[in-house]
Amino acid sequence: MAILITGGAGYIGSHAVLELLRGGFDVVVVDNLSNSHEAAIHRVAELAGKPVPFHKVDIRDRDALDRVFGTTPIEAVMHFAGLKAVGESVGQPLRYYDNNIFGTIVLLEVMKKHGVRTLVFSSSATVYGDPASVPITEDFPLSAVNPYGRSKLFIEDMLRDLCRAEPEWQIALLRYFNPSGADPSGRIGEDPNGIPNNLVPYIAQVAVGRLPELAVYGSDYPTRDGTGVRDYIHVVDLVLGHIKALEKLATRPGLVTYNLGTGRGYSVLEMVEAFGRAAGRPIKHRLAPRRPGDAAECWSDASRAERELGWRATRGLDEMCRDVWRWQSNNPKGYA
Ligand code: NAD
Ligand code: WQD
Repeated sequence: MAILITGGAGYIGSHAVLELLRGGFDVVVVDNLSNSHEAAIHRVAELAGKPVPFHKVDIRDRDALDRVFGTTPIEAVMHFAGLKAVGESVGQPLRYYDNNIFGTIVLLEVMKKHGVRTLVFSSSATVYGDPASVPITEDFPLSAVNPYGRSKLFIEDMLRDLCRAEPEWQIALLRYFNPSGADPSGRIGEDPNGIPNNLVPYIAQVAVGRLPELAVYGSDYPTRDGTGVRDYIHVVDLVLGHIKALEKLATRPGLVTYNLGTGRGYSVLEMVEAFGRAAGRPIKHRLAPRRPGDAAECWSDASRAERELGWRATRGLDEMCRDVWRWQSNNPKGYA
């Protein structure tokens, strides 16, 4: 029996496929390659020393998805496929709702048809909206401040409704904080399309000379150095949390929700410093106005996952920066 990975060619999905293979699981990957490269799949296969069954399929294509379930015995799904750029979602809300929400509905219906009722879903700390305080626990109030966030929140609501109506489902909602890092091999990593929106890939591209300098968005926040504070979690720790969640689901039906974060925050300037150390060169940056919609601080209380899953992030900031730098310096243009 295999684990189906939707979005398995993407940044987090490719790392999940690799760790599952290393853990002895069988996998099958579907991805429409709208924000990724098939090369990632080949590299994962190379690193794992095993072939990776891959189908270029859009999860909204019911017949194609049905064929995947019809030809491979699947026991559970890790659902990473989705669009994730906040700014883009503001300009193209319908595209986000169609891809993320409708895509998930089709996936759930096809799963149900084939008797597969175990799902690990990629949610996001974005469902906490603008948090009133930090650290953030799973029972903080939920809200959405942009269409991307609304798509995640709606999918969470839909999955809660589904578990209430059909208690045999086993669903984990995993709320990621700020995933970063890369497999230590330097063969796979984050390869954003165009100019990165997120801090770490932006810094990495400055370090490698693809971008001239980083704009630090806001230096007057009520934080220790005035810049925004976030909970950066190494992608390998993150995907190991998914495997723990899958094991947890095997022991009980119903829906569980976990923050996947480190439980501590770093400021933008601390990230610039740390990356400079890893790359052995200073990261050129300038202070700039705040970016609209940004919270001053967003970091997790990740103790529920530690208590109930026996999982916690073990990879620190320097290791994360070193791994990103190995990926970026070995692949200055990503997979291209
Ligand atoms: P990514 O864009 O690298 O990976 C997503 C993958 O899904 C891509 O390979 C893309 O081609 C594929 N995809 C998108 N729509 C599809 C569709 N309709 N059918 C088939 N494949 C489709 O993004 P990522 O950073 O790896 O994120 C994975 C998941 O984690 C997403 O759902 C994202 O919202 C969520 N998440 C990411 C972050 C983050 O900062 N990276 C934070 C919180 C949550
Ligand atoms: C981090 C910090 C910026 C870029 C986003 C999504 C969230 C989740 C993770 C998916 C902030 C500052 C950034 C730059 C900067 N994704 N920054 N200069 O905003 O915490 O979260 O990604 O679910 O939903 O909103 O991450 O990496 O964009 O920003 O100063 O060029 O870096 O202001 O303080 P964010 P980020």
